Amino acid sequence: MQIPNYKEAKKRERKVFQIEEFQLEKEWEHLGDNKTYFIKTYGCQMNEHDTENIKAILEKLGFQESSNWEESDLILLNTCSIRENAHNKAYGMLGRIKHLKESRPDILVGVCGCMAQEEGVVSQIQEKYKFVNFVFGTHNLYDLPKVLYQSGKTHHQEIEVLPKEEKLVEGFPVKRESKHKAFVNIIYGCDKFCTYCIVPYTRGSQRSRHKEDILREVEQLVKDGYQEVTLLGQNVNAYGKDLYEDYTMENLLEDVAKTNIPRVRFMTSHPWDFTDGMIDVIAKYDNIMNAVHLPVQSGSSKVLKQMGRRYTKEDYLTLFSKMKEKIPNVAISTDIIVGFPTEEEEDFQETLDLVKTCQFDNAYSFVFSPREGTPACKFENKTSEEEKNQRLYRLNEELNKYFLKSNEKLLGKTVKVLVDGVNPTNKTALYGYTESNKLVNFDGSIDCIGKIVSVKITDSKTWSLDGTIVDE
Ligand code: 5AD
Ligand code: SF4
Repeated sequence: MQIPNYKEAKKRERKVFQIEEFQLEKEWEHLGDNKTYFIKTYGCQMNEHDTENIKAILEKLGFQESSNWEESDLILLNTCSIRENAHNKAYGMLGRIKHLKESRPDILVGVCGCMAQEEGVVSQIQEKYKFVNFVFGTHNLYDLPKVLYQSGKTHHQEIEVLPKEEKLVEGFPVKRESKHKAFVNIIYGCDKFCTYCIVPYTRGSQRSRHKEDILREVEQLVKDGYQEVTLLGQNVNAYGKDLYEDYTMENLLEDVAKTNIPRVRFMTSHPWDFTDGMIDVIAKYDNIMNAVHLPVQSGSSKVLKQMGRRYTKEDYLTLFSKMKEKIPNVAISTDIIVGFPTEEEEDFQETLDLVKTCQFDNAYSFVFSPREGTPACKFENKTSEEEKNQRLYRLNEELNKYFLKSNEKLLGKTVKVLVDGVNPTNKTALYGYTESNKLVNFDGSIDCIGKIVSVKITDSKTWSLDGTIVDE
């Protein structure tokens, strides 16, 4: 058994991680024959992509995917730690599974993902959720077959969570959700340690994948007919810094663009590492999409400092203007936290002012959620819960105005849309995303799914656009 340990998780040392190929031992084969599995995924694209790997591993063991958790033989929760409500959702689901297990004691229940890397969560699972059969962490997805095998053999709760990352594993099998859009990991972990954020503890040190492995993966996706890749990392701009002297995100973006994949996206970027060179590369290549997610978190330099963000409001605005100037029609989206412990009304006003200046194309807004083990969790709180929720409301009112305004600019224009699928609420309507990452609904044949089509925008709303397909 190995359990999480925050003291270890906090440590950072400059080291190049050894690469190993993913392997399945003979004795693990057939573990899942005639059995079904169900995975519930919480949180970000990183987790979604981990789930794509986990599904493929389970299918190699013989399991088959089921869409009904209550009828599955194996239920796995791929969890998220970023805010309290993500925790609550996973604990709520565990409560429902506990009931199910009373009538079906033979089902296997597993917990993985970010919560599995938290000291407090694992001790809760050991004490209060004894029916959970196994737990493995974000650093050792490759141990899933081993923990499954062990828990079947010992009938004890198997906990195998590495306190710290040990190696880079390549060659994971993958069952991708989409046949035309793919996530590609480029860097794991984060070394930024923003004071509110749990990620550096749950996802470990910054570790870049080798460029050859990334480019090989993208080239294969091109051969398989994929139309879009999203390069993933907690902070993609830091790519290469832990591995190369002179190969950075700028170089990787350019090399990925040269594979001729029709669309390249990347997320998430930290303003601190966003270089002029990166802006130039985005502007130069038509297949690098003109959409950048650039979390600001707050408009107050005082709060930014206490958040450990390493830039001031002015630095952010300078970078923002540079992008707007150099990347044609760039759409910039952001993340904002309100109710940080030291945020006062005038700090919040500065956030509102920044929103008015930047007029973001899209944004995700959150109330600060204290995460155990992070520095901000211990900061003195200056604001009541009610006031924080009021701020969130006021912020969203302001943000929404600009989403609508940015969508209205597209009225009457013809834009390229990668068609994702059929709109579940209207069976004749398709939906897809523009280059600038805006959602468009339009009528069309299902043959268009997975293709890039031209759509004339006929109506604009806060969250989406309507249009009609045109020939070009
Ligand atoms: N409370 C609220 N929001 C948070 N985020 C990260 N940590 C917290 C927290 N403790 C937000 C940030 C980040 C996004 C992924 O989640 O805005 O950019
Ligand atoms: Fe968290 Fe992002 Fe800051 Fe890293 S850069 S600590 S993932 S908010």
